Amino acid sequence: MKDRSSHDTSSDKSREKEASALSAVTLIADGMIVGIGTGSTAAYAIAELGRLVAGGLDILCVPTSYQSEMLAAQQKIPITTLSEHPKLDIVLDGADQIDRNLVAIKGGGAAHTREKVIAHAASKVVLMVDHEKVVPGLDHEVPIEVLPYARTLVERGVRALGGIPELRMAARKDGPVVTDNGNFVIDADFGTIDDPARLSDELSALVGAIEHGIFLNVDEVHIGTSDGVKVLKRQGLRK
Ligand code: A5P
Repeated sequence: MKDRSSHDTSSDKSREKEASALSAVTLIADGMIVGIGTGSTAAYAIAELGRLVAGGLDILCVPTSYQSEMLAAQQKIPITTLSEHPKLDIVLDGADQIDRNLVAIKGGGAAHTREKVIAHAASKVVLMVDHEKVVPGLDHEVPIEVLPYARTLVERGVRALGGIPELRMAARKDGPVVTDNGNFVIDADFGTIDDPARLSDELSALVGAIEHGIFLNVDEVHIGTSDGVKVLKRQGLRK
């Protein structure tokens, strides 16, 4: 007989992701320039935005990946570029892990470099997650997009910082994952990260590392739970 427990767990998670996305989309209003993130949770938000655009919502979106660009095009959501609109009102995105201080780790889909660019261009950064991603201490591997030429140098730098680097391999392509920007991704395991801001600075200083997945400038997170959506907001100034 089929084991339903794992199925139920994953469909619960999907429901929570969808609920968090529907909740975050209520922040979108006419005239906004909206960054759209990447991944399965962002896909729910893009589908909902498509429904609202079909009903007359007047927005322009800046995608963070080929995935979000393709989904937005399918949904007939008007797309613009960062060059045309260097200031965005808001970005809606997923995350791999987030703590109570609203520090997130992103990049499970290797899109974190563009996601971070858009997060820094947006006045408001809103993440959408299922409840299992909210943790007291971050311990998810940190994705680091690297220039292929500099891979071994960056791996050495990660080891010097106490991390264990692993080149991300592709699932349906031989060899490594190649990002939308033509680079590789190293997943760096640092165990529990006591000081994410310091690690962020240290990783940013590695020559050949293009961008890492620690996000310090999150304003709001919508968390899908079995008991509805909970919203956490940043207290004080954003970093
Ligand atoms: C893309 O690289 C990531 O930052 C995603 O936003 C993150 O991995 C969350 O993905 P899911 O919404 O699919 O869990």
